[in-house]
Amino acid sequence: MVRLKNEENNSKNLHKEFTVHTRGGLKINGYHDINFDLGKGEFLSLYGPSGLGKSSVLKALYRTYTTTSGEILFNYDDGTSLNIATALESEILNLRKEHLGYVSQFLQVLPRISAVDIVAQPLIEKGESQTTAQEKAKEMLSFLNIKEELFAISPLTFSGGEQQRVNIAKGIIAPKSVLLLDEPTASLDMTNTNKVIDKLLEIKKQGVTMIGIFHDMDCMKRISDKIYDMKEKRYADNY
Ligand SMILES: Nc1ncnc2c1ncn2[C@@H]1O[C@H](COP(=O)(O)OP(=O)(O)OP(=O)(O)O)[C@@H](O)[C@H]1O
Ligand SMILES: [Mg+2]
Repeated sequence: MVRLKNEENNSKNLHKEFTVHTRGGLKINGYHDINFDLGKGEFLSLYGPSGLGKSSVLKALYRTYTTTSGEILFNYDDGTSLNIATALESEILNLRKEHLGYVSQFLQVLPRISAVDIVAQPLIEKGESQTTAQEKAKEMLSFLNIKEELFAISPLTFSGGEQQRVNIAKGIIAPKSVLLLDEPTASLDMTNTNKVIDKLLEIKKQGVTMIGIFHDMDCMKRISDKIYDMKEKRYADNY
């Protein structure tokens, strides 16, 4: 489904160097020599110490960040593929609309929109009626232990963990073919972490391909088919 690999006719692997223009073009190494692939319905976790480029790789996959060298191939079901690293902006927008979702670590929403409306929005975009979308959004919020009295309120005043659950609810309620998850359980307690993992396992069964980052090793092991060690630059085989 998704593949990061060597550039053709070139020995360089996926690599990112940041240039900080406000600092006279200072170069910062984001990540280098990353190679992995995963098929439909697989879950791959990126593993490694802080600052090694895990979030940056996810952003490169979503094309929030450009790539210095290397290829990121997205294979469509019809056998064609798109190189995310070099695709046109319009191709990226189409890919995101139909196939690629990204759940950031923190909720970013406009003020004055209720939690239910935020979670219902992706369903409405997919063509569900307002009523059905709201019902499903409420179910998802309840499942993730959001108190009913909060449903009609903007999540901007929610606790960190509540905001994270609204964020994940919004991110997984209408999953696209590939879902990128940056520490979706980082500020959750054990009960809510397990609930999120249960939901992720459920959508995995439906064939959604996912790439995620977890701090919690148990979580990572429970959900992952493959773990890519960003430090060793290879799959971790015994975990
Ligand atoms: N937009 C940017 N401009 C400059 N440097 C950046 C940018 N984004 C990331 N970096 C740098 O790239 C490196 C990798 O950062 P990244 O956030 O990908 O790490 P990470 O593995 O996700 O770490 P953590 O586990 O702490 O979340 C860091 O040194 C970071 O400072
Ligand atoms: Mg990170």
